[in-house]
Amino acid sequence: MVQFERFLEAVLSDARLEGCPPRLGEAIHYAVFPGGARIRPRLAMAVAKACGAKGGPIVASAAAAIEFLHCASLVHDDLPCFDDAEIRRGKASVHKAFGEPLAVLAGDALIVLAFETVACHAVSHPARLAALVSILGGSVGTRGGIVAGQAWEAETSIDLARYHRAKTGALFAGATMAGATAAGHAGAPWRALGEKLGSAFQVADDIRDVAGTAGEIGKPAGQDALLHRPNLALELGVSGAIAALDAMIEDAVSVVPECPGQIDLQAQIRITARSFLPESLARRAA
Ligand code: IPE
Ligand code: IPE
Ligand code: MG
Ligand code: MG
Repeated sequence: MVQFERFLEAVLSDARLEGCPPRLGEAIHYAVFPGGARIRPRLAMAVAKACGAKGGPIVASAAAAIEFLHCASLVHDDLPCFDDAEIRRGKASVHKAFGEPLAVLAGDALIVLAFETVACHAVSHPARLAALVSILGGSVGTRGGIVAGQAWEAETSIDLARYHRAKTGALFAGATMAGATAAGHAGAPWRALGEKLGSAFQVADDIRDVAGTAGEIGKPAGQDALLHRPNLALELGVSGAIAALDAMIEDAVSVVPECPGQIDLQAQIRITARSFLPESLARRAA
């Protein structure tokens, strides 16, 4: 991961070269560093490795693109017109630190940077590059991507599963499919794994929101009840939601496609899934 963090730093310092207004550059850097759990790029790189990739710039750029899209979604999600959140990753959210105009622009810039990053690093593999661009676009776009997910909140009725699939599942599916694609494998067989992990992660986020404290989760707690957002832990209770989470992880593990590193990847997913809930919260809830 140290290498990946360096890769992110290098991409951001290029993006902040001559021509980039300094405060915009600072806001972008602030949105990406220090990171959260980096769960999506880890997943992309783990899938690439399971498919036999030894790392390299295409894999790193695909993972970085996924993380940039994720960071952008958080910056925009915290804005007053969405969730109006003052803290993110344990510090002031980007609009609190830099003001709303720069937060909007930093999010925009990160979305563009995601595509530029793969364009720049996957240029020697045009077929993989084309597939990556389409996967990245799909994971954040209007047809079931993050934009769709956020937009469901503006509709009068929401199908909970569809909303979660778009808001969270799509970028996880983007991570697994981009990891496989960067390694030269077909992306499509990896969609189900990403979607299932995304659903599980969303349930963990629902539990964190209901049962965690702001100190534990680094962002305001209790937001879903406050904002009348659908939340499985509110629907089933915390222990019901934890049981659902465990079942969802096993379901995800069962659909890891055949690949050279299948067994290792399944073990890795089980270990990573344990970190979906902060330890103190998991202990309290047990
Ligand atoms: C938070 O994602 C937003 C959701 C989709 C639930 P993460 O919990 O992965 O955020 P960071 O990157 O670790 O801060
Ligand atoms: C934010 O979703 C993640 C996006 C996909 C934009 P939430 O609003 O549910 O997550 P938190 O609680 O702010 O991280
Ligand atoms: Mg939100
Ligand atoms: Mg939010």
